[in-house]
Amino acid sequence: MTKSFYVTTPIYYVNGAPHIGHAYTSIAADVLARWKRLDGYDVFFLTGTDEHGQKVEKAALDAGVDPQTFTDQVAEQFQTLAVALGLSNDDFIRTTEERHKRACAALWTKLLDAGHIYLDHYEGWYAVRDEAFYAEDELTTNVHGIRVAPSGAPVEWVREPSYFFRLSAWQDKLLAHYEANPDFIGPNARRNEVLSFVKGGLIDLSVSRTSFTWGVPVPNDPAHVMYVWLDALTNYLTATGYPDADAPRARFWPADVHMVGKDIIRFHAVYWPAFLMAADIPLPKRVAANGWWTAEGEKMSKSVGNVVEPNALIGEFGLDAVRFFLLREMPFGNDGDFSRRALISRLNVELANDLGNLCQRSLSMIAKNCDGKLPPLPTPLTEADIALLSQAQALPALLGAAIEAQAFHVALEEAWKVIRAGNAYIDHQAPWALKKTDIVRMASVLRVLADVIRHVATVLQPFMPDSMGRMLDQLVVPADGRTLAGLATPLVDGTSLPAPQGIFPRFVEEVA
Ligand code: MSP
Repeated sequence: MTKSFYVTTPIYYVNGAPHIGHAYTSIAADVLARWKRLDGYDVFFLTGTDEHGQKVEKAALDAGVDPQTFTDQVAEQFQTLAVALGLSNDDFIRTTEERHKRACAALWTKLLDAGHIYLDHYEGWYAVRDEAFYAEDELTTNVHGIRVAPSGAPVEWVREPSYFFRLSAWQDKLLAHYEANPDFIGPNARRNEVLSFVKGGLIDLSVSRTSFTWGVPVPNDPAHVMYVWLDALTNYLTATGYPDADAPRARFWPADVHMVGKDIIRFHAVYWPAFLMAADIPLPKRVAANGWWTAEGEKMSKSVGNVVEPNALIGEFGLDAVRFFLLREMPFGNDGDFSRRALISRLNVELANDLGNLCQRSLSMIAKNCDGKLPPLPTPLTEADIALLSQAQALPALLGAAIEAQAFHVALEEAWKVIRAGNAYIDHQAPWALKKTDIVRMASVLRVLADVIRHVATVLQPFMPDSMGRMLDQLVVPADGRTLAGLATPLVDGTSLPAPQGIFPRFVEEVA
């Protein structure tokens, strides 16, 4: 039976237009989804939008539109962005959909019936920007004398009737789960952060609000709407057809990885597993948290006006260059800086020079000197041939291990080691010189290179689907030969190759 794999992105708040930070987690999740498909898995890749809560209601109010119209508009921007980013998502969930309200109601009722939810009053601090409750000792006062959460979000004092989830009852079970499943939270720094938060003691969590109405109604008490995080986290279950155990996608639960930003790790690694344990639902296998992007050294913010907008970037540099840059520049768990200079440099050095030249030099020599036909592999292979080919053949295992650990930059570095080795091989073998002295050996060298390019392009497809697809077109690799398993079937000697075309042009900055 085919193994299944379920990966999710966070669902994005529709309070404002998408930026590069949103694009990043989605692209990372997409690479993982595409990699698993390449490796023969039956993949379910989910993304979507988080449309309820006070923050979104306020944004709609500020825009002078009713929340449903407003969320329809912004959700569409995220859907368009998913297409522009080349996401291979199998579903796009919106929390205002009926299927989701039904799933939320089912989960709530299960928790309530089992005695995990009780009615009381909430009195304390709330940050609308984070949609999070904070304890007094977590707060500080900012330079303007305003009480703020650790994220910098202003807090307000809330007092209202509220249902509570007995989070305090799950502290030991959560700690036992982290202990028994060391890979549940990644990377390690985040795991430690969560451990110390939980060890510090958990208090019961307010899971309903009465001071506004833009949310999923509480089934047993319609004066309340569900806390937006209980609603939002449930999306991961909704998309599998929950609560219908016979739904076609039910088999994907539990999720293999929730990809999230570091700011929302607490919700995914503490609240979510506690809700699930209480509802007797298996836990996701891993929560992987990425760091944050700054722009040209500064925090991105609408008021500063330095928000990096993905569509403009894609328009200027091309989708694959942007996907490559984002995953190459910033190690997944770390913070990173988005700078135009760094992007142009990586585009010109790594894509145009390293990868582009390797392909262009090899394929144009085949076109000119081998009548455009793929030469046969040398017999016997030289030591240099064997060294390079075996380095290329090791790529699937190396990239697989890195990608599964969300070390996307390591995966790319492994591929680039082979690309650089390929370029060094051309320089040493000097096929242009062999053309005059040993035409058979020249052809052999070009064939070794074609095989290396095929391996590199195959494993890089998840990162740069379009350009690597075009690269494989140039080698006339059939559709079923483009998977990891397909690499075992050799290219066919004598195949006529199309006229080679450059894949990554150099980017020249216009001087004003
Ligand atoms: N709606 C919640 C998630 C619910 S998941 C059940 C939410 N939405 S968000 O739109 O505010 O953020 C979505 C994701 O974007 C988060 O993972 C967040 O970390 C990420 N990013 C927002 N700004 C970012 C950067 N500047 N850099 C990297 N990621 C950033 O939180």
